[in-house]
Amino acid sequence: MYKYFIYIFIILIIVLFVVFCLWALKKKKEGICPFCIIRQHMLKSRLTIKVPENEFYDGGDAQTPPMGWSSWNTFRNNIDEKLILETADALVSTGLADAGYKFVNLDDCWHSSMRDENGRLQGDLVRFSSGIKWLADEIHSKGLKIGLYSSNGDYTCEDLPASSGNEKIDADTFARWGVEYFKYDFCHNIKIPSVAPLVEAMELKQGDNVTVYSSDKAKLEGMAKINKDKNLKTGQYISFLGHGKGKAVFDVDCESDGECDFTLCVKKSGRYEKYIVIQVNDNYYEMFIPFTKSWTIGGRYQTKVHVKQGKNVIKIFNPVCTRADSSYIQYKRMGEALKKASDGKITYSICEWGRNNPKNWAWNAGNLWRISGDILPNWRWINVIYNMNLRLAEFSGPGHWNDPDMLEVGNGNLTYEENKTHFSLWCMMSAPLILGNDIRKLPDEKKTLDIISNKDMIAINQDKLGMQCVRYKKTPTFDFLVKKLADGNIAVCIYNKKNSTKKIQINKEIFPAEMHEKQQKIKEIWSNTAISYGDIFTLKSHDCAVFITI
Ligand code: GLA
Repeated sequence: MYKYFIYIFIILIIVLFVVFCLWALKKKKEGICPFCIIRQHMLKSRLTIKVPENEFYDGGDAQTPPMGWSSWNTFRNNIDEKLILETADALVSTGLADAGYKFVNLDDCWHSSMRDENGRLQGDLVRFSSGIKWLADEIHSKGLKIGLYSSNGDYTCEDLPASSGNEKIDADTFARWGVEYFKYDFCHNIKIPSVAPLVEAMELKQGDNVTVYSSDKAKLEGMAKINKDKNLKTGQYISFLGHGKGKAVFDVDCESDGECDFTLCVKKSGRYEKYIVIQVNDNYYEMFIPFTKSWTIGGRYQTKVHVKQGKNVIKIFNPVCTRADSSYIQYKRMGEALKKASDGKITYSICEWGRNNPKNWAWNAGNLWRISGDILPNWRWINVIYNMNLRLAEFSGPGHWNDPDMLEVGNGNLTYEENKTHFSLWCMMSAPLILGNDIRKLPDEKKTLDIISNKDMIAINQDKLGMQCVRYKKTPTFDFLVKKLADGNIAVCIYNKKNSTKKIQINKEIFPAEMHEKQQKIKEIWSNTAISYGDIFTLKSHDCAVFITI
């Protein structure tokens, strides 16, 4: 019996091996590297594209973490212009606007399921009947700024039209309306294909002159190779340009500077979409080659490119291997469109929930990036997000921030201490402070307004140095966080993680070494008292104390 199992097992392995070899041969014939496909599935969230070092996104207004309000956490899909304007008024009348909360962000569901006759997004025809431009003007007249939302996919998370493939026109619409903040979600996202078309030739048309560059004119890099096919006009084509593994490079002489028509001549192949980047000197042009029926052997795909007089270098390749590569390119595409349309005035918030390791690329594509799934007014989950974000301190800084999501202060059943700690942790972590509560109703008993308008905490958050705090000590009961400030002062937060009240005696040893060197006084922010060594602090469950040298 046992023997039979072994035989069956061996036969199964042989069958699988044969199936794999047949599949790999088929892929090779199609000009696709089979091991690259396996790699693409194994690495998924790993970026294989090289992001230019230290080239931070140079648009937006985010030298300090953005501050404002968003409709999502409390109102979800129930928003209209009345609510938005009431909230804007409340931001002003409560003093929150003066405290720094300037962005009024409309999250999902601000828009209609129908684009207008020019293909532009428009506000919900009933709930935002006065139009978004009007609303933006109203918000601006109150000294505030407006933010909008879309998704890097075919639809938003609430299944309304989104911006993938419409980046230019949507960015242009937002800029025309005077939008200053843009959040770009990840729902209904479709990965850019890693497969490249088979390239027979390229053509350039300048004026009336058409020059054809057949594949034998190309210098091949990486895995790219020439294949013969006598049915093609030129008798050959280039394969293996996909998965970031191969390039075809053409040296091209042009008579003059300017735009010209670029045609990519491909050998049709495979019932799947393909993607290719045409790099002309320092400019990149993208092409999507559709799923093909192959009634005929060749296809022509066109774009406009900019060439310069004299020598140009044109590189043809598909840099996408993993899902992270695809996300990087897609988010960057929108970032560039926003920058161009608004002259760099729109702050760009990337929201792909930390799925594709944004820490490795998002600083080059936008101003802030979510590091986790959606926040909820639930302490355990807030604590998980806090722990995730703590590990990312080195990636945050002026103009480029980790985003542990919008605030839940004042929402759900969070206790006073939890609200206070949530706010303190976000301030210490230099997180964007985007309020998620109903600003029109701020019941006194919750002291929400006191928490979110605490000037010292906001100053810590908005500190020009922009250093996210680090945890310098951890015990089963307490977390100890330190954040260095631009003026040389130091902020320390002690957070009681336990579900019960704990006491802690304040002495030199509980503070980080850099604080020992200072002889300054120390103040505890929430009680607004100067402390002396020997003082005992009683911290209720999930409470915290924040100390600052003065
Ligand atoms: C996602 C985002 C949320 C919110 C909703 C809107 O879940 O992560 O922050 O924008 O979509 O549908």
